[in-house]
Order: sequence, then structure tokens, then C-alpha cells
Amino acid sequence: MLPKVFVTRRVPPDGLDILRKSGQVQFEMWDSDDPMPRMELLKKVKGCDGILCVLTEKIDAQLLEAAGPNLKVVSTMSVGFDHLSLDELKKREIRVGYTPDVLTDCVAELTVALLLATSRRLIEATHEAKTGGWGTWRTLWLCGHELANSTVGILGLGRIGVAIAERLKPFKVKKFIYTDVTPRPELANMIEAEYDKLAEQSDFLAVCCALTPETHGICNFNLFSKMKKNAIFINTSRGGVVNQEDLYEALSTGLIAGAGLDVTTPEPLPTHHPLYTLKNCVILPHIASASYTTRNAMSALAANNLLAGLRGEPMPKELKL
Ligand code: GLV
Ligand code: GLV
Repeated sequence: MLPKVFVTRRVPPDGLDILRKSGQVQFEMWDSDDPMPRMELLKKVKGCDGILCVLTEKIDAQLLEAAGPNLKVVSTMSVGFDHLSLDELKKREIRVGYTPDVLTDCVAELTVALLLATSRRLIEATHEAKTGGWGTWRTLWLCGHELANSTVGILGLGRIGVAIAERLKPFKVKKFIYTDVTPRPELANMIEAEYDKLAEQSDFLAVCCALTPETHGICNFNLFSKMKKNAIFINTSRGGVVNQEDLYEALSTGLIAGAGLDVTTPEPLPTHHPLYTLKNCVILPHIASASYTTRNAMSALAANNLLAGLRGEPMPKELKL
């Protein structure tokens, strides 16, 4: 019998084709753009050898128990892995695939777009133009902050942070600085970044770290209160890295100039959330990797990780547990 695989969401065609054409698995997919009800998911994974999931599915002890002892591989179509209980997976010797690298360019591109939309107040500006606020050309109206001669801080220097810096460099950024758990000289050299304190110096601060117990809530009042008043805060990693009450406070009292968020807590952020009321906060619905090319590449990599794992071979991108 072929290994049994459950795909927890409708995934882009490239990944689906790989699974279909492989002839190596019998798979079933939740053929919808919306997440499965949890109870349904717990039923469907029962007896599976492999699971291909997306970031909205919590792969925790409850789910692994429901799946049972056959489960060998979990492949997530995401670079983030905070939805996976790594300890529980490791305990059961379940291998884990994820999708770094293939989304780096796309995420970096969106991060730059969000940064510029926030710093140059593009959303506010189009709203003004459309709704009659554009009375005349005014000298300080809709003024923002520019990248030229600025210092850009990167919180968590990995592949994505480097890619963001490479894209920002042509905007004549003066200096890149970063922090991480430890210095990362090889990556830092690529963008001539210094390992330094971010809060005090950054005109732009981009969060690019993974969400872990160590990074949970690290962007809090303590950080915001040390930042420059002109600073722009950008987060395209995970909402959990930010204390949102503290961010609201910082934005509404002018501790910092603006924030661009592609990720929030929770997701979706309810429409009545106070952050939406702030003109200096640009909120996107978690779309950093959302290009056709990248989402297809992610689904293909997730499918290939899954198949390799089920064959007992090294995965193209395996998360070391
Ligand atoms: C997106 O947020 C991802 O983790 O791939
Ligand atoms: C701006 O449009 C200028 O001409 O200064």
C-alpha cells in the first residue's frame, strides 16, 4: 500500500502536480481556501504517514496523537515553524520539512514595499486624493521620512534580512546595523552590517527573526521608548514578536513615527482593532510571500520535502530538530 498523505489546504498547482505525478503516495486534500475545522482535521490525519500543512494548522501533541504511530513526516508550506510543536515532533522522531530560500526574494520585495508605503504615507495619501483632502499642493502636507542617509536596523539577520538590505542599499542607506542571538559575520559582511544596538540608532527597524520563546514579545515598550521619534517599524516575520498594546501606545503617543505590519496577533486582526484607527500604521493581511511564482515554488518544495521524507531520503529543506 502506498503511504497515506493528508494535505490540509488547497495548495498551488505545482505542489499538487508533484504529488499526483509521483505515484508514490495516496493523498487526500482539504480542497478549500479556508482552514479546516479542527475536529475535522483531527479525524482526517488519523493513520496518515505524512501531512502537508500550512501555517494556520497547529501541529501539536493533540494532532500527533490523533494521527497515530504511522506518521513519519510533517511538511509545512512555510518558512516559519512556530505553528509546529518541535519538541513533540522530535520526541516521536517525526521529520519536518519547511520552505526557506524559495520565498526570500518575494518577502524582501514586499518588506521594501511596506516600508516605503509606511514611511512615505502612501495609503493615507491615496485616501486623501480619493476623498477630497487634496485641496492644493502644500509644503509639509503628507511629508514622511526618507531612506537616503538613514540607518536601517535589522532584528534577526538571516537570509531574508540580507535580501532586504541588498534591496535597500540602492536607496542610499548610510548604514546597516543588526542584532541577533549571536553575531553572524558571514551574512553581515555581505551587506556591511555592524552588530550593534538597534533601538537608539535605527531610522528604520525591520523585524526578520523567527518567532521562538526567546523572541516572543521582544518588540515592547522598552524597545519603542528607546527608538527615535522619526523611526519606522516594520514587521514581516510573526505578530508574536511584537507586544501590540505597546506598539499602539508608541504609535499613538508619537514615540515612533510609523509602523508597517504584515503580521499581527491574532490573524486575521479583527476589524475593530485599535491599530486600524491609526493613520501611521499600515496593516497588510500576511501577504509577504504572495506572488504566484513563490507560492507555487513553496508548494513544490513542500511536496518534494514530503516525498523525500517518506522515502527515508534527505529532504531538500529539512528542519533540524
Ligand atoms: C510565511 O509567513 C511563512 O512562514 O512562510
Ligand atoms: C515638486 O513636485 C516640485 O516641483 O518641487
